[in-house]
Amino acid sequence: MLTVAVLQQKGGSGKTTLAINLAAAAHLGGGRALVVDMDRQASAFDWSAARQDGSPLDGLAVVKADKAISSLLSRRG
Ligand SMILES: Nc1ncnc2c1ncn2[C@@H]1O[C@H](COP(=O)(O)OP(=O)(O)OP(=O)(O)O)[C@@H](O)[C@H]1O
Ligand SMILES: [Mg+2]
Repeated sequence: MLTVAVLQQKGGSGKTTLAINLAAAAHLGGGRALVVDMDRQASAFDWSAARQDGSPLDGLAVVKADKAISSLLSRRG
């Protein structure tokens, strides 16, 4: 399993766009992708929630990180 973290302190620098497009490329290429949106703003989650049925991205999972997921991921290193 490949884990990619997209981080940048500067706002509006393309983090969400890059993360979503990496996941979409993996999904469309036949892989299984999961986006864990760690930003409280949760744009990636909101974008996926607005996706219409029948989209080529159906099946690409996007979840909002809550405290439980965040602490689990940070412990795994
Ligand atoms: N490679 C790119 N080329 C041109 N525009 C881009 C590119 N990547 C992102 N954008 C545009 O830049 C804006 C900010 O992108 P995005 O929301 O992905 O940034 P962000 O770092 O997640 O922002 P935030 O800090 O608010 O979470 C959006 O309008 C997006 O469409
Ligand atoms: Mg963002």
